[in-house]
Amino acid sequence: MTTLALFVALSPAAIGDDPARTHFEAKVRPLLAGRCVSCHGPEKAKGGLRLDAAANAAKGGDSGPAWVAGNPAKSLIVLAVRGTRPDHAGAVMPPKAPLAAAEIDALAAWVEAGAVWPDAVAAVAGRVGDAWTDPANPIRKAFAGERLDLWSLRKPARPELPAVKGVAPNPIDHFVLAKLEAAGMTLSAGADRRTLIRRLSFDLHGLPPTPAEGAAFAADARPDAYERLVERLLASPRYGERWARHWLDVARYGDSNGFERDEFRPQMWRYRDYVVRSFNADKPYDRFVTEQLAGDEIAAGPIQSAADADRWVATGFLRLGPNDTTAAVFREDDRERDQVLTDLTNTTASAFLGLTYTCCQCHDHKYEPLTQADHFRLRAFFAAVKPTAAPIDPPAERTRIEAHNAAIDAQVRAAKAGQAALLAPAKKLVRAWRTAMRRKKVDVTDATALSLTPAGDRQRYRDLGQSVGALNAKKLGFTTAAAMTDGPATATHLNAQGDYKKPRAEVQPGVPSVFDPNPLPPAAVPTKTTGRRTALARWVASPDNPLTARVMVNRLWQHHFGRGLVATPNDFGYAGAGPSHPELLDWLATEFVKSGWSVKAMHRLMVTSAAYRQASVETPGHNRDSDNRLLHRQAARRLDAESLRDALLLVSGRLRPDAGGPPRWPAVAEDILLSNPAIFEAREGKAGGRLQDYVPDPDDRADVRSLYLVQKRSVPYPFLQPFDLPDTGASCGCRAATTVAPQALALLNSPTAARVSKAFAGRVATEAGSDPGRQVETAFALALTREPTADERALARRLVADYGLDALARALLNLNEFVTVD
Ligand code: HEC
Ligand code: HEC
Repeated sequence: MTTLALFVALSPAAIGDDPARTHFEAKVRPLLAGRCVSCHGPEKAKGGLRLDAAANAAKGGDSGPAWVAGNPAKSLIVLAVRGTRPDHAGAVMPPKAPLAAAEIDALAAWVEAGAVWPDAVAAVAGRVGDAWTDPANPIRKAFAGERLDLWSLRKPARPELPAVKGVAPNPIDHFVLAKLEAAGMTLSAGADRRTLIRRLSFDLHGLPPTPAEGAAFAADARPDAYERLVERLLASPRYGERWARHWLDVARYGDSNGFERDEFRPQMWRYRDYVVRSFNADKPYDRFVTEQLAGDEIAAGPIQSAADADRWVATGFLRLGPNDTTAAVFREDDRERDQVLTDLTNTTASAFLGLTYTCCQCHDHKYEPLTQADHFRLRAFFAAVKPTAAPIDPPAERTRIEAHNAAIDAQVRAAKAGQAALLAPAKKLVRAWRTAMRRKKVDVTDATALSLTPAGDRQRYRDLGQSVGALNAKKLGFTTAAAMTDGPATATHLNAQGDYKKPRAEVQPGVPSVFDPNPLPPAAVPTKTTGRRTALARWVASPDNPLTARVMVNRLWQHHFGRGLVATPNDFGYAGAGPSHPELLDWLATEFVKSGWSVKAMHRLMVTSAAYRQASVETPGHNRDSDNRLLHRQAARRLDAESLRDALLLVSGRLRPDAGGPPRWPAVAEDILLSNPAIFEAREGKAGGRLQDYVPDPDDRADVRSLYLVQKRSVPYPFLQPFDLPDTGASCGCRAATTVAPQALALLNSPTAARVSKAFAGRVATEAGSDPGRQVETAFALALTREPTADERALARRLVADYGLDALARALLNLNEFVTVD
């Protein structure tokens, strides 16, 4: 009794006004979950008793009801923990690890007060507040009131633009200049036009400008020439291809399952194309988020349009993680399910929220205000997910396919009837003959009948058989997307040490407890699904969410400035880098929401700032900011793997304009393929085709943008790999940018390099004719968007004279200048 009285006395009204309920939530539920459920729960029910949920506990155990409300002395549950059960002298619960006296008192007090056990959702009535205002918040308790000053958890307030001495043409510049001026510095001079158009083209398209584009911009005297260039680039479909690539890193995109077999996923590319379309259409980011988390629930209803279909395709986000298909073979479906849910939990937290939920799966987070329960609360939103092949054809198309197939079926039936008619005479004859001999009806096989049919009819029979095959091959399938939806929801438990074989207390879907420890009720959805993911999506995509907008604008910033304002884009926690310009980040985040979550609006803002347009060369006197944290210059960046290959193909005239559709399979050396056990197995004849084998396309078919190359997890494309391809097993917010020898080897000696430099030389010869001076100029213009200097001209001409145009082509493609964006 003392415990209850004390607790109520200490607790503010904020935690609910029903003391019995409050006491249960604070003292009894955690006690049962932590000390009893391992033996009295879904895994084991010792003594026939379960103590994991009210409905189960109310049934009692082998010895009858577990409690008598209001009477602790007659309640088995209290007697058991005291070790005073009449017929179990000395047996105490939990065996060998008795409860502390205070815990026993708490349990007894609960029974005495009526044994009220609201189930977890109903517990909303006694809502616990956020960690900043409510001492009963579990985060406040778990970390003794610490860890609550994490900057990213506070909603961004829109700061005033700081006053600056210099000229700040754009709001961004106010923030950047204010910091620079405080350090006695200023921005560097603006970059020249050639640098600007190369920078912009690579940033927005992942491709270099053509010589004509470079010349046109250099000659454009209109005052808004730069803004016009930005608009032209943003309006091109190449923009979506470039920015989809960044998002696919975050979304851990792959075209195969990973693990041992690494089977190809023939429909995954639809998600990739959806991302391209979304960026090109400037789809509001909050919708983009919602579609990926819960597109199936908001699609609600038959597909009428491409936009409806896209909602299903978007849920491919939930299908992208690696998938161990051998688990089923070894009856390890539970392990596989656990791995899928872990992936969904961790990816959702990293991609949208910048939170490292990976680290609180096995224990409370060691740095952040996140408990282990938080990991499983987020996981519970996905508890019902079920992969599905969603039909995505619009109704007219479905009707067309059905009519087409029905017509074929009719023709097939007619052909089969024709075959039967051809065999009929022989069948009739044999049947009559045999029946006469054995005096009972017998069947005659088609083969027998055929062998007795005259040669002409036999041929006609075979022709009809062939036409049946040909007709069936013309049947059309419905288009499906690799999508996710809900099946029945199973209970989510906190797993001890993250081990799915050790389920503990049940948890309900919930957002980080630091904000709101109560269960987040499912959204009312017009579908048969649980509505849990829609509830989650609404919370993530809410303008009030302190993390979502910040995390996304930081991703955009990173790809325009070489480094995020927070240099750890997937980690906005204490263990992350923290923002270099907190006010700027907050201003951008609020501006993002204000713009209707327009990603293109953010690009415009960023690339038209003076900070973006400054030169990347080191300015003397700025060495006080040697790592450029204050942004006193632009960052020179090595091209990422895909941009580099795309640039090589574009410059050499080999880049195919094909966009979208099933991935292309570039050639990979046989020894690499055969060292892959799954492919080796496939070659041995056990699983043919592209499901498990690697079947390259002809070179010219694979000369598409790298985005469209197959991303088979166990076979990263060898030409791209040395240039820091990300691991597709988990969300990648920031690629490494190493400088290692294999990069030089790939550019100088790989089959790809040899092929593109030859093509480049051929193109130069075609465009420039045989005049060596023109050839050198053309080659420089194509590769570097500039003319050669006098020295370069002389050197290049000598190279061509001595070693041919191929050598010049290869040299230019290997220049630092070619692989770097200034
Ligand atoms: C390590 C396993 C284990 C843990 C933990 C445990 N129990 Fe038990 N419990 C048992 C076993 C075994 C029995 C059956 C044998 C017995 O009745 O002593 C049992 C039986 C009981 C019974 C009698 C059920 C009946 O109807 O016969 C009660 C009541 C009980 N436990 C309460 C608790 C409570 C309350 C806790 C947590 C504070 C708890 N137990 C924790 C193993 C455990
Ligand atoms: C698969 C389970 C698992 C995951 C996932 C996990 N840990 Fe741990 N971690 C453990 C175990 C087990 C221990 C040792 C027991 C303990 O301290 O809880 C531990 C211990 C630690 C310790 C040392 C604790 C101390 O008190 O010195 C730190 C720090 C830590 N983990 C950080 C992390 C971080 C950061 C992550 C995410 C990147 C992470 N852990 C993810 C299981 C895990």
